[in-house]
Amino acid sequence: MNTLSSSPALPVAEALAPLSSSRIGRPGFLWGVATSSYQIEGAVAEDGRLPSIWDTYDGTPGRVLHGDRGTVACDHYHRWEEDVDLIASLGVDAYRLSIAWPRVMTEDGRKNDKGIDFYKRLLDRLADKGLQRYVTLYHWDLPQWMEDRGGWTNRETAYRFADYAELMARELGGRVEAWATLNEPWCSAYLGYANGRHAPGRTDIRHARAAMHHLLLGHGLAIQALRANDPGAKLGLVANIGHAKALTDSPADRRAAQLHEMQHNAWVLDPLLKQRYPEALDELWPGSAPVVLENDLATIGQRMDFLGINYYFRSHVKSDGAHGFEEVHVDGLERTQMGWEVYPEGLRTLLVGFRETYGAALPPIYITENGIACDDRVQDGRVHDTQRISFLLRHLQALDAAMQQGVDVRGYFCWSLMDNFEWAFGYERRFGLVHVDYDTQVRTLKDSALAVQHFMQARKATA
Ligand code: FCB
Repeated sequence: MNTLSSSPALPVAEALAPLSSSRIGRPGFLWGVATSSYQIEGAVAEDGRLPSIWDTYDGTPGRVLHGDRGTVACDHYHRWEEDVDLIASLGVDAYRLSIAWPRVMTEDGRKNDKGIDFYKRLLDRLADKGLQRYVTLYHWDLPQWMEDRGGWTNRETAYRFADYAELMARELGGRVEAWATLNEPWCSAYLGYANGRHAPGRTDIRHARAAMHHLLLGHGLAIQALRANDPGAKLGLVANIGHAKALTDSPADRRAAQLHEMQHNAWVLDPLLKQRYPEALDELWPGSAPVVLENDLATIGQRMDFLGINYYFRSHVKSDGAHGFEEVHVDGLERTQMGWEVYPEGLRTLLVGFRETYGAALPPIYITENGIACDDRVQDGRVHDTQRISFLLRHLQALDAAMQQGVDVRGYFCWSLMDNFEWAFGYERRFGLVHVDYDTQVRTLKDSALAVQHFMQARKATA
């Protein structure tokens, strides 16, 4: 493993130095790295873990690139001690992880102590290393037995999710600084139930809208359970946000871009922060509205201590000639290994826009994910991921600009600690600060990780 002792030459050591005079470079602004359970843990059938919808999905031919599966992933379930040391070696303040629901709860709602013990040990070691624990309850690995009963289209799933949240608060309470109920409900609902590119792979917009409502209801119920059982922790939700640019200046294209942002952002944020769904959803997808019972929106819209924001790219959008939008590929733009446009300014624009839209209802923000996939290779023990370093720097500068415009941002988590199972794209797309060789499970710090290490050391030295 590379460490600081390999004394990388400039520009790695100075790469993030332009941030040192900003608030982002001062202690008090939280720096972290993020992962999620299914993407790194492996050990899918160990210690009583039950199958999740992703085990089923990636076991279905044609669903995941190259037929990759999460069965072993980064083998983190066995290598967690080494991985905690790795995080600590970066010098960051915090680690964002998720708990695998099918690892900790049985089908009849009992706890699985072996699974829970794994997280207890992990959280304790993180604490020993001085790392703050930001824990997400649901990062997409729904127990398959729940999907067999309708998954998120079944209102019952929201109540089971609250039971799970209560169990975690009772078992792990006091070990966690911040709980996020859901990661990216838009992806769970839309990709999972409308376009089928994520588990469970369904393709009906009515299912997606019901799923979203039950995800958000589950969030609200879970917040109540967490607040009652772990009152010291900060509570929130993590949303992915999309930025859309109209392909032309025509009113139809501009409306298309607006609708695109609304179905990405307002579909989640309006019920949480305004206790209502945007009307644009019915314009876009007529006849698909979910059943919303009295008090549901009050439950969904109760106070959160923070909002997690995941930002990756901008989309170009045009009118589909009817009531909707189409995404279009524009040539000549900087893109990542995912094909996503690199557009740091979008982060500032969106954050400033949210502050205007939601005003005092907008809780303090943490950027809970931001990062880039690159075709990284190890050469002579090093990975020269210059595009990632530049991506991080530019996004952090955009974030600083948003903060200077008054947006209350408290921290930034880079996606991801290490290369991992990138859902439908399997292992080919590498998002890590740390390179993973999947044959040997050797971890190698990329230049971006070294840049972060240096930045953190410099911050400590001037504190
Ligand atoms: C986000 C997911 C995360 C990771 C990144 C690249 O949508 O939350 O698990 O896959 O994208």
